[in-house]
Amino acid sequence: MANNLKGIILAGGAGSRLFPISLTGSKQLLPVYDKPMIYYPLSWQMLLGIREFLLISTPTDLPRFRELLGDGSRLGISIEYAEQPAPEGIAQAFVIGADFIGNSRVSLILGDNIFYGKLGEFREATEFTEGGFVYAYPVHDPERYGVVEFDDNGFAISIEEKPQNPKSRYAIPGLYYYDSRVVDIAQNLKPSKRGELEITDVNLQYMREGKLRVKCLGRGVAWLDTGTQESLLQAANFIETIELRQGMKVGCPEEIAWRMKYITNTQFDQIIGAMPANSSYSKYLRNILDIPG
Ligand code: TTP
Repeated sequence: MANNLKGIILAGGAGSRLFPISLTGSKQLLPVYDKPMIYYPLSWQMLLGIREFLLISTPTDLPRFRELLGDGSRLGISIEYAEQPAPEGIAQAFVIGADFIGNSRVSLILGDNIFYGKLGEFREATEFTEGGFVYAYPVHDPERYGVVEFDDNGFAISIEEKPQNPKSRYAIPGLYYYDSRVVDIAQNLKPSKRGELEITDVNLQYMREGKLRVKCLGRGVAWLDTGTQESLLQAANFIETIELRQGMKVGCPEEIAWRMKYITNTQFDQIIGAMPANSSYSKYLRNILDIPG
């Protein structure tokens, strides 16, 4: 279990690549097939046992997230909210979240990253105690990402942000684990040339100390990001394919809360009762309550 591990979901950013659909609202509230994008990273972290969350977004968008997810108690979890006034980098999440993190370990997930596949591959990270832990995922276009090289013991030996000539084909996905020292590290970072507190600089700090664990994800795991028109549609198609084939939903927080026993049958029933009865979403939940799979 993700003992003493807190979760930050970073869901701000400019969303400029999705212009104009990101103009009037947060990218992470856009639909990925049948539910808002934010449901996927939230669900993933819930499946890995995290129950205490901080959701960070822009001052304009934060009220909409609050409206959608509330304080989490409905799902047997807690969700706090904090503003990131300007998109000044992923690592700023640890500065904004300093009080929330306190002395705990923390896992940061980006609000536009979707993971699917064997949860077992992800357990180790939730149990580590010291240093940082990131994943390496083979991609055909590593130059778009933070690229990592690692030794035979699974420790990082080089990390480069969007390199022109990548040293490996392994990108670091938007799911990171750190001990509570990350707050201190982030607070002492200088903004990069593009004016951001870079997550790569956090990772480099842990790497220099020989404390950045890297686990290579197998090809049975899907990691999708949804920051462009193409990848957003691809993610939607991927989710649709799996859901229609299996008759089960991917990234459904209510279902997960119930299966993880965070809520009782009665509470689950009440949640479903508050949803529009004619929605396929509520019909799905009603069905699994009546006929548990
Ligand atoms: P990006 O996709 O790198 O940036 P973006 O969402 O602003 O999109 P674009 O490049 O099209 O302008 O961000 C990855 C994730 O991190 C995404 O969920 C937004 C989030 N993010 C923040 O919340 N704050 C930030 O300062 C940055 C840089 C990203």
